[in-house]
Amino acid sequence: MDDQQFSQLLQHLGLSWTGYRKVRKGVKKRIARHMQDLGCRDVSAYLVELDRRDDARLDCERLMTVSISRFFRDRKLWKTLQKDILPLLVEKHREKIKVWSAGCASGEEVYTLKILWDFLETSTVRLPYLEVLATDINPDYLERAKAGVYPLSSLKEVPEQHRSVYFQLQAGGKRHAVKSSLKNGIMWREHHLLSDPPGSQFRIIFLRNNLLTYYRDESKRLAFRKVLASLSTDGFLIIGSHEKLPFETAELLPFGSLSFVFKKINGVSP
Ligand SMILES: C[S@@+](CC[C@H](N)C(=O)[O-])C[C@H]1O[C@@H](n2cnc3c(N)ncnc32)[C@H](O)[C@@H]1O
Repeated sequence: MDDQQFSQLLQHLGLSWTGYRKVRKGVKKRIARHMQDLGCRDVSAYLVELDRRDDARLDCERLMTVSISRFFRDRKLWKTLQKDILPLLVEKHREKIKVWSAGCASGEEVYTLKILWDFLETSTVRLPYLEVLATDINPDYLERAKAGVYPLSSLKEVPEQHRSVYFQLQAGGKRHAVKSSLKNGIMWREHHLLSDPPGSQFRIIFLRNNLLTYYRDESKRLAFRKVLASLSTDGFLIIGSHEKLPFETAELLPFGSLSFVFKKINGVSP
């Protein structure tokens, strides 16, 4: 599959050429295999098949996904969460805090949050219940997330003090399993980011390195508006450190010194 054909496919799916520029080689290979499995000789025939069969389209969308992630990705973000955001939320909401990790890949982001929460528990008398909804379009990633076993490369940003407490060595030190108690309170669910959000009144939404990177403007604006509506007033939206909001909105104020963390206030969307 050449770049022009790949670009045709991206356009058909509402995906962005720029978003895929670094990862297109591997993705193209997977798609070429899918085309072969469906008996499609060229991209035009493939696009017809995707329009004709919902299952083929969903399989294709899953094959387009990239699961790159790691624990404590963007270390400064986790410091801000630990020092500022979580204490603020805990102070204000005594019973329950709802968090949505949208496009959670294999769970690295979610378990990082659980590590911070567990750590907070050691210094706080009574924490509210933390309800985490972790969603992804790709069921294979969700299975890996539930298993919670990772290669060393996923742990390279984990602070030394947390390594031995929250991970157990497996396979002679090649694999690292998260401590089983971190798995409590996490709901893993299949969900497509272009569909309606899987809940409302979230106090934190992680929307990092998926919708805003891989989708074209038209598709991401509409989906982003819905994500924003599912965030509670005074809730926090966290996007990828290299990502930008798809439109300006008075509803989101930058929070602290990080350009990718926002607090929702009452405002009017354009
Ligand atoms: C690059 S990973 C990012 C993981 C994590 N959020 C992070 O920043 O480390 C992108 C994830 O988004 C998921 N994803 C991509 N498109 C999606 C969609 N339309 N709906 C739900 N998840 C999607 C992929 O399956 C993948 O697991």
